[in-house]
Amino acid sequence: MNVRSTPARPRSFASLALATVAVVCSTGLAHATGNAARGQTLYKGCADCHSINENAVGPMHKGVVGRKAGSVPGYDYSADLKNSGIVWTEDNLDKWLVGPQAMVPETKMFFDVPDAQDRADIIAYLKEKAR
Ligand code: HEC
Repeated sequence: MNVRSTPARPRSFASLALATVAVVCSTGLAHATGNAARGQTLYKGCADCHSINENAVGPMHKGVVGRKAGSVPGYDYSADLKNSGIVWTEDNLDKWLVGPQAMVPETKMFFDVPDAQDRADIIAYLKEKAR
């Protein structure tokens, strides 16, 4: 008599569980929040070429968030970056770190950060420490 209703419960539990997973996943995908402490560790990869306060292989990062691209005095930029008209908003920094050549084809920075959370953490670090 109840042969049909018996499996109904486990099935509804399963769909409830799936719905929960979906909610957790979509929250996780919401705009990545940067962790500056983790960004400091990741910045060691940038430090092969950059420092906060001095020009090196790459330009210094002091004040980079909000700064116009190619504007550090005494640093010899590629003409392409210098004339790009880019302003280093957080969004533009994120795009840059995905792949500098996609944004500025003739740039001389060859380094990219494929992971979105890593990029967010590095940008949070720059915002906090390179003001
Ligand atoms: C292998 C060396 C190298 C590494 C590693 C590197 N960069 Fe660069 N970066 C450069 C060079 C060279 C330039 C100048 C590019 C140009 O003039 O076209 C540059 C330019 C930049 C600029 C533009 C600055 C400005 O004043 O307009 C930003 C922002 C930047 N790098 C961020 C980073 C970050 C963040 C990292 C680490 C995730 C990083 N870079 C890693 C070499 C490097």
